[in-house]
Order: sequence, then C-alpha cells, then structure tokens
Amino acid sequence: MVKLETLISLAKRRGFIFQSSEIYGGLNGCWDFGPLGVELLRNLKEIWWKSMTYREDIEGIDASILMHPKVWEASGHVAQFTDPMIDNKISKARYRADNLIEEYIERLRNKNKTELANEIEAKLSSASKPSDYYDIIVEYKIPDPVSGTTEWTEVRYFNLMFKTFIGAVEDASSVVYLRPETAQGIYVNFKNVLETARQKIPFGIAQIGKAFRNEINTKNFLFRTREFEQMEMQYFVKPGTENEWFDYWMNERYEWYLSLGFKKETLRFKVHEKLAHYANRAVDIEYLFPFGWGEIEGIHSRTDYDLRNHQEYSGKKLEYFDPTTNERYIPYVVETSGGVTRTAMALLCNAYDEDMAPTEKGDLEKRTVLRFDPRFAPIKVAVFPLVNKDGMPELALKIYKDVQKHFKAMYDDSGAIGRRYRRQDEIGTPFCITVDGQSLADNTVTIRDRDTMKQIRINVDNIITYLKDNLII
Ligand code: GAP
Repeated sequence: MVKLETLISLAKRRGFIFQSSEIYGGLNGCWDFGPLGVELLRNLKEIWWKSMTYREDIEGIDASILMHPKVWEASGHVAQFTDPMIDNKISKARYRADNLIEEYIERLRNKNKTELANEIEAKLSSASKPSDYYDIIVEYKIPDPVSGTTEWTEVRYFNLMFKTFIGAVEDASSVVYLRPETAQGIYVNFKNVLETARQKIPFGIAQIGKAFRNEINTKNFLFRTREFEQMEMQYFVKPGTENEWFDYWMNERYEWYLSLGFKKETLRFKVHEKLAHYANRAVDIEYLFPFGWGEIEGIHSRTDYDLRNHQEYSGKKLEYFDPTTNERYIPYVVETSGGVTRTAMALLCNAYDEDMAPTEKGDLEKRTVLRFDPRFAPIKVAVFPLVNKDGMPELALKIYKDVQKHFKAMYDDSGAIGRRYRRQDEIGTPFCITVDGQSLADNTVTIRDRDTMKQIRINVDNIITYLKDNLII
C-alpha cells in the first residue's frame, strides 16, 4: 500500500493536487486541484452522475450553496451539528475529543492491550455529553500525542458550520451558513421536482456540489478537509418501505465502487451504532486507505425527519398524495452520501503501483504507474514523435490534434522516449502513440499499453477506432 507522503508528493509534482494558497503558506484543510486533478474529479463526477441520474426514477438538481438560515434550524444543524472539542493546556493542540479517545484505543490495540481498549470503547460508544468524553480522557489519563501531558481543558461542543453574512449589514438577522451538506438543497426542492418532473414515489433527487465544515482537525490529505465536494442522492419512499430501499441502496452503492475497480478486500461496510440526529439506520462504505479504514460514503435512513421539519418551519405542505391509494403522507428518505474529493483520493491510492520496466538499454528500472481504470485517467492518450526531425513532429502533431477531438490527449516531444513513457505511466495515461521512422513510410504508428508495456503497430487511419474500442467501457 502506498504511503500517504508518497501520494501527496506525486500529486503535487504532477499537477493533481496543490495546497490551497500555497504561496501564502497554505490554508489548512483546503486543497486546489491542478490540471490533472480536475480531470480526475470531473471523470468521477460524470460517472456518478450517469449511474445515478440516467435512470427513470432519479432527477438531478444543482441548488445554491447559500440557503435561507431557517433551513439549518429546521434540519437540526444549528443546534446539533457539533463535535466535542478539547484543548491541551501545555501544547495548545486542539482535538476532537472522540477522535483523541479513538486514537488512544487504536494505540492500545496495537500494543495488544485489548481488554482495556474494549473497556474504553464501550464507554465511548455511550458518550453523548461533553462531560462523558472529558471523564473518559481523565479517567484513563489519555495523553496529548504532541506533548505527552494530560492537562486538558473541559470538553465543549463546537458547531461545524461556517457562518457569514448576507448583504451589507453584519448582524444576527443577516447570518447565513455555507452548507455543510448538499442534502438540504434537495429537501427544500422536493415539491418543485416532484411536480415539474411529474415523478411518483419512490423516486430520488441527486446533486453534486461543494460542502463546507469547520472541522476541528483536518487530516490525512483529502480525507478530512474544510471545503470538499459531495455527491448525494435522496430517495423518497413510502413510510414502511425504507428498510427494503435501504438494503437496495447499500447493495447498489457497494457494487458501484466495485465497478470502479476497487478490490473487495479494500471495501467494507461499517454499521453505525451511534446514529446522527436525523437517522434511524446508517451504514458506511469504508475504503482501506494507507492510514487505515475510512468512510467514503454514508447510507442513511433519514425517516421523514427533514421533510417534516421543513414543513413545520416553512409552513408549506411537503406531503405526497398517492393517486393509486388516495393516501397522503410525508415520504421517508434513504440517502446515499458520497464524498467526491475523498473518493478521488481513494482512486489515487487504488491506482498507485510500482513495478520494474525495461529501459532503452535493456536493463530494468523501477517505475511508478497509476493503474487507473481508463475512465478515470486524466489523460487518455499521449502522442510522441520518436525524434524531432524527418517529418515525425508534423505527423505526430496532426495525430494529436485528431485524437484531441475525441479524448483528452497530450503531446510530448522532449527527452528520451523511455522518459516520456515513464512520465505518462506516472499519471496513469492508458495509451502512448509514437510516430517513428516507419510511420512516414507506411502510415503506421506504435501504440503502447500502460499496464502490459506492450506495443502494437496500427495504421494511422485506425487510431480513433482503436482508442474508442479500448477506452470506452
Ligand atoms: N448528508 C449526509 C452527510 O453529509 P456525512 O457522512 O457527514 O453525511 C458524507 O458525509 C460523505 O461526505 C462522507 O462519506 C465523505 O465522503 C464526505 N465528507 C464528509 N465530511 C468530509 C470532510 N470533512 N472532508 C472530506 N469529505 C467529507
């Protein structure tokens, strides 16, 4: 498994991901996607969008990030979207209290102190008030990982929503929030979509968009950031059928991750014992990251919690009338909530590989290769002239321009051919086309496969067909 530092370094060096505002020293918890990263993100979003909305029972929307502040009162986020926070008095380091305890449990397990780890875990699972977390930290003398000391402040709750103001006056009446989840934009549009798209229950609404959380600790590269993207779908069902739909969506979403090329042994379900304020059943799909298992998608049975509260707070009816049974009810919701940026990181981890490749002299050298499913590869094909003379650049440029009309392509004429292959392997380009001396004579080129490193020779007129056959799944 690739080390996180190796991945971060490759991501920066090759233009996938940069630190936000890097020239000013960076902004914690925010990342910028470079020329290759943005392609990866767009590919992922496109594949999700097609799989979720190119079906008769799901519609897409794109709601605004800023919403009426009452939305967040109704959703429970103003009162309950909080994490327990604790500060170490010596190091001044700030932690999420539950994470501090979890990491301590993990350390105990690594030292085979299973009994003690289980005992603390049992207490953690029933903790709900700030004092519960504080008591665990004090009772078990959990030290600060930075200073090793146990001098802690009290635990207090911290709301994760970013607050700002709308308009010129900065007072309580102008407060708005950056959305911490895209889901609420869907709930407040439930009636609009139901009526305009003439849908019938069960049906879903999908959305991809930015979300913001003022996380206490950001960590592990793209895993926990303050600005991120979500791909969420809310499926509206008849009350009483939610369990069956929950099972359906659990299976659909798991299969979807497998279809992206994730291996079974790197995916698992984790059933929630502690439920969010809106859920009566929840499960995470977790991926085995270099730092351990981590959630990439949550599937939540949200009952009628959100629609009922929006109906109450807005005074607008959000019921569904079933014309076949003449019943009127507020639908229940099964939500699938994936992270775009988190999944992009999982895709990078999954694709990373190292092997041995032949050099031009015939010996072997270590190569780094991103074995992306071709659908995710930022660049689908690279075109090279073997040397910069004898008409090769002219033909190579012509091929590049033709290919670019169909696929994101790259032209590279600098350095030894072996180095050029290595550069493309490192960013996961599935195919490299080389124009050589023979090309001018018989209108053929070589096409090299990233994974097998084998080359075949094909006629220039067949390039697009070949690429279409091998890149479009
Ligand atoms: N609407 C429900 C919801 O937002 P969540 O489990 O809090 O549920 C869903 O988030 C997904 O959003 C997570 O599985 C993860 O992929 C992504 N996500 C959440 N917080 C994140 C963060 N701070 N940084 C990156 N991705 C995050």
